[in-house]
Amino acid sequence: MSSQSCVTIHKEWDIVAARQMGREIAKQLGFGTVDQARITTAISELARNIYLYAGEGKVYFEVIESLDKKGITIVATDTGPGIKDLSLVMEDGYTTSGGLGAGLPGVRRLMDEFDIESETGKGTKIVTTKWVR
Ligand SMILES: Nc1ncnc2c1ncn2[C@@H]1O[C@H](COP(=O)(O)OP(=O)(O)OP(=O)(O)O)[C@@H](O)[C@H]1O
Ligand SMILES: [Mg+2]
Repeated sequence: MSSQSCVTIHKEWDIVAARQMGREIAKQLGFGTVDQARITTAISELARNIYLYAGEGKVYFEVIESLDKKGITIVATDTGPGIKDLSLVMEDGYTTSGGLGAGLPGVRRLMDEFDIESETGKGTKIVTTKWVR
């Protein structure tokens, strides 16, 4: 079984809405409170990047429930400026905004699977999954 939910990000408050929706889904899937916190932190970072660098975009949640595993997939997409050098942004401390540059590497550490696609002038798509264990 698989189902999807979506939050459009265009104002700062939408980041909070995305977090809340993600936490609710994670709780229902049976994630413990520590994993719920990891998942909501990842959602915040992805939604905040959309808000800051792309202006607007979407955060989707997909529930994966098969016979042998359960998990949550977060998909963050935007049609913003895109990212020129993907290996650079995945390094700790790389930032173009005076931030900590910890967002994307942090998301990769907090989740189990992580994939980023981006094209300059076209936008960015990040797909990341955490499995219930
Ligand atoms: N959706 C996006 N569109 C365009 N550029 C992005 C996007 N997300 C991240 N970036 C670029 O990647 C860089 C690194 O992002 P990351 O979230 O790791 O750090 P940060 O946002 O700069 O700082 P922090 O998240 O620690 O406050 C950003 O500075 C920005 O240049
Ligand atoms: Mg960031």
